[in-house]
Order: sequence, then structure tokens, then C-alpha cells
Amino acid sequence: MKNTSWLEGTCLFSVLMERSRFLLSITLLLVHHSSICTVGATQTNITTDQSALLALKSHITSDPHNILVNWSTTTSVCNWVGITCGARHLRVASLNLSYMSFTGTIPPHLGNLSFLVALSFKNNSFHGSLPHELSYLRRLKLISFRFNNFMGSIPSWFGSFPKLQSFDLYGNQFSGTIPSTIFNLSTLQDINLSANKLSGVIPREIGNLTMLKEIYLDSNNFNEIPKEIGFLHQLEKLYVQLNALKGPVPVVVVNMSSLTELTLYDNSLSGGLPDNICQHLPSLQILNLGRNQFDGLLPSKLCHCRELLFLNLEENNFSGSIPKNIGNLTMMKLLSLGYNTLTGN
Ligand SMILES: *[C@@H]1O[C@H](CO)[C@@H](O)[C@H](O)[C@H]1NC(C)=O
Ligand SMILES: *[C@@H]1O[C@H](CO)[C@@H](O)[C@H](O)[C@H]1NC(C)=O
Ligand SMILES: *[C@@H]1O[C@H](CO)[C@@H](O)[C@H](O)[C@H]1NC(C)=O
Ligand SMILES: *[C@@H]1O[C@H](CO)[C@@H](O)[C@H](O)[C@H]1NC(C)=O
Ligand SMILES: *[C@@H]1O[C@H](CO)[C@@H](O)[C@H](O)[C@H]1NC(C)=O
Ligand SMILES: *[C@@H]1O[C@H](CO)[C@@H](O)[C@H](O)[C@H]1NC(C)=O
Ligand SMILES: *[C@@H]1O[C@H](CO)[C@@H](O)[C@H](O)[C@H]1NC(C)=O
Ligand SMILES: *[C@@H]1O[C@H](CO)[C@@H](O)[C@H](O)[C@H]1NC(C)=O
Ligand SMILES: *[C@@H]1O[C@H](CO)[C@@H](O)[C@H](O)[C@H]1NC(C)=O
Ligand SMILES: *[C@@H]1O[C@H](CO)[C@@H](O)[C@H](O)[C@H]1NC(C)=O
Ligand SMILES: *[C@@H]1O[C@H](CO)[C@@H](O)[C@H](O)[C@H]1NC(C)=O
Repeated sequence: MKNTSWLEGTCLFSVLMERSRFLLSITLLLVHHSSICTVGATQTNITTDQSALLALKSHITSDPHNILVNWSTTTSVCNWVGITCGARHLRVASLNLSYMSFTGTIPPHLGNLSFLVALSFKNNSFHGSLPHELSYLRRLKLISFRFNNFMGSIPSWFGSFPKLQSFDLYGNQFSGTIPSTIFNLSTLQDINLSANKLSGVIPREIGNLTMLKEIYLDSNNFNEIPKEIGFLHQLEKLYVQLNALKGPVPVVVVNMSSLTELTLYDNSLSGGLPDNICQHLPSLQILNLGRNQFDGLLPSKLCHCRELLFLNLEENNFSGSIPKNIGNLTMMKLLSLGYNTLTGN
């Protein structure tokens, strides 16, 4: 399903492009039809796609299930396993090598796949760093290198994808900070950098990505959420658990009315929670602030988070009694308040 939806977008785009080009110039329309594209000053065609993929094949050092046997010039590129060509251009639109147990590196030639919309290499053992030539892939909407062994910093040229919607580096060994050029990814809807070795402040430029709906930064070493995150009026899911956040919960975070899931479990956050924490979080379903150093009383009006399904405040130092109205949260499936210094019945 997902696979086709990424490509549908391309076709729609092509139709619009074609119309405007038709109005402008018949020559351009012809150019568009023959699926020629330029990388720098060089023209490319399906043969370029083929040689880029053969270069990738030669950089794959282990293919235990012999998946790449039909990646050969005797078979049309569009029939190679893992490849989907766009219906219109007959150029490679999706390269999906997920779950194929490959070991290898990424050659710069992949930057020649100028019609690529989706690039997905989930669950393999690709390693090394990412060549900057990937930044030529101007049509990309989806990048996933989830569960591989890439390392080094996240390159600053990651800012150069004007249509990127989904960016997933979950489970690699990327280190350093998130580059501030991320501000350029204005179409981004979800980002997953969980389980890497990233650190420092989450760049305040993230506040420019107003289309963001989901942010996953779990299991890194981030120490601060910038207040600019409050500009993300469509943000539904914010996961920054198992990091090194400290100080009070930023007020802007508990003021984002679009949030449905907020998980800051296992950090070093401290101070009290605002008593009216639920006033601006009407849609919250998951609130996980367990394993921090919060203290003071529990918020007295948690019952205003009426949609709550999961509330975890365990392993903090909350004191006082449990507000009775917590019983009004009738949707609640899991409530954890253990390991605090709460008193009463
Ligand atoms: C890639 O392939 C996997 C397994 O075949 C599939 O589950 C996934 O949806 C595909 N992803 C994309 C972006 O095409
Ligand atoms: C692709 O372009 C090259 C020259 O740039 C040409 O030799 C080749 O025949 C073309 N291939 C196709 C399939 O059009
Ligand atoms: C290439 O291999 C895949 C899986 O092994 C298969 O589904 C596909 O049909 C093959 N393509 C051709 C043209 O033989
Ligand atoms: C493709 O990319 C490689 C490396 O980036 C380059 O050497 C080659 O000339 C490019 N062009 C074509 C048409 O293959
Ligand atoms: C992908 O890799 C992760 C981490 O190694 C593993 O937990 C998960 O089960 C794998 N998924 C699949 C579908 O192989
Ligand atoms: C930002 O995007 C524009 C247009 O896509 C591009 O020209 C520019 O190089 C990008 N800047 C960075 C820092 O990535
Ligand atoms: C991104 O946000 C910063 C402030 O957080 C602002 O100064 C800058 O102009 C924004 N950049 C873009 C490209 O919108
Ligand atoms: C992102 O990473 C988290 C782990 O932090 C995982 O549970 C989640 O399913 C991922 N989501 C997406 C959309 O990639
Ligand atoms: C919280 O949000 C309201 C509007 O929803 C706004 O008026 C107020 O200034 C915000 N407070 C903070 C601290 O961001
Ligand atoms: C927990 O709070 C009590 C007072 O309510 C205080 O005496 C105690 O030192 C605190 N414990 C920790 C580990 O901060
Ligand atoms: C909680 O529910 C009880 C009855 O079930 C009701 O009397 C009370 O007003 C409710 N409290 C709040 C704060 O909604």
C-alpha cells in the first residue's frame, strides 16, 4: 500500500508538470516524455539507472539468499527484484532492498537515480558513510536506512531534499548533533532518529518544519528540547525517551494541543509538573514521564486529559496523595504511579 502511494504522488506530479510544460513549450513536453533528466551537465536515461544499480550490486559483498541473481543486463531493470519503475517515465522510482540480509556500502552512483522517489534499505548490514551524491536525488519523498550499521555524522546535505516527507535512520550508529540544515526539509512529516549515538541540543530549526506529525528521538544522548518545538502545530507524537534531558519539562511542550503521545521516559527531568498540564492537551492518549526526577504534587486535574489510555509517572519523587478524579479517566488501560513517595488510601 505504502509503496504505491509514494509512487502515485509522482504520477500526479508528472501530470501537473506536463500541463504547465505543455502551455509553455512543446519542446519541453517532448523532453519530459522521453524521460531524459540531467545530473549536473550530463543527460541520463534508463541505462544510467542500470549502471548505478550495477555499481550498487558490486558494492554488496554478501547476498546470502542470492536475491541479486536477476540484477543482470539480460533482464530489464524494471523487473529486477526490489525495483519499481514509474509507470510514466519507465525510470527507477523506488529502490526497496528492505529485509534482504545484504552487507555492503553505498556507492556514489546511486546519486544518478534521478527519478527516485523512495529509497528503503531497512534491516540489512550496510555500513560506512553516506555519499554526498545522494543529495542529487531531488524527487525523494522517503528515505529509510533503519537498522543498518551506518556511522559518522548525519550529513548537512540532508537539508537538500525539497520533497522529503519521511526520514528514518532508526537503529544505526550516527553520532554528533542533528545538522541545522534540517530547517530546509519543509515538507517533512515524520522523522525517526531513534537508537543512534546522537547528542547535544535538538536544533531549534526543527521549529521550522511545521508539517511534522511524528518525531522519534529515543535512545540517544540529547540534552535539550528547544522551545521552538512549540511552533509545530500538527505534531501528534513526540518521543524523546532514554536520553539525557534535564531541567524542567519545557512549558511549550505541554502546551501543544495536537499531541496524542508524549514520551519522555528515562531522562533527568526535574521540578514539578504544571498543575494545569492537561488544560492544553485535550487529545493526549499516552503520557509517559516515568523514571525522571520530578517532585511535588501530582497535577490535580489529570482528569482533563480525557482520552488518556496510558499514564506512567513511576520512578519519580512525587509526593502527596493521588487525586480522586483520576478515577474519571474511564478510557485508561495502564496506570503506573509506583516508586514515588505518594501517601493516602
Ligand atoms: C519495502 O519492502 C518491504 C518488504 O517487501 C515492504 O514491507 C515495504 O512496505 C516496502 N517499502 C516501500 C517504501 O516500498
Ligand atoms: C542512454 O544514453 C546513452 C548516451 O548518453 C545512449 O548511448 C544509450 O543508447 C541510451 N540508452 C537508452 C536506453 O536510451
Ligand atoms: C527476479 O527475481 C525475483 C525474486 O527472485 C522474481 O520475483 C522476479 O520475477 C525475477 N524477475 C525476472 C525477470 O526473472
Ligand atoms: C554516475 O555517477 C558516477 C559517480 O557519482 C559518475 O562517475 C558517473 O559518471 C555518473 N553518470 C552516469 C551517466 O553514469
Ligand atoms: C529488524 O531488525 C531489528 C533489529 O535488529 C529486529 O529487532 C527486527 O526483528 C528486524 N525485523 C525484521 C522484520 O526482520
Ligand atoms: C535548501 O533547499 C534549496 C532548494 O531545494 C536548495 O537549493 C539549498 O541548497 C538547500 N540548502 C541546504 C542548506 O540544504
Ligand atoms: C528557521 O527558524 C529560525 C528560527 O528558529 C529562523 O530564524 C529561520 O529564518 C528559519 N529558516 C527558514 C529557512 O525558514
Ligand atoms: C520510530 O522509532 C520508534 C522507536 O523509538 C519506533 O517504535 C517507531 O515505530 C518508529 N516509527 C516510525 C514511524 O518510524
Ligand atoms: C500556550 O498556548 C496558548 C494558546 O493555545 C498560548 O496563548 C500561550 O501563550 C501558550 N503558552 C506558552 C507558554 O507557550
Ligand atoms: C524526595 O522528596 C522528599 C520530600 O518530599 C525528599 O525528602 C527526598 O530527599 C526526595 N528524594 C529524592 C531522591 O530526591
Ligand atoms: C468525576 O466523576 C464524578 C462522577 O463520576 C463527578 O461527580 C465529578 O464531577 C467528576 N469530576 C470531574 C473533575 O470531572
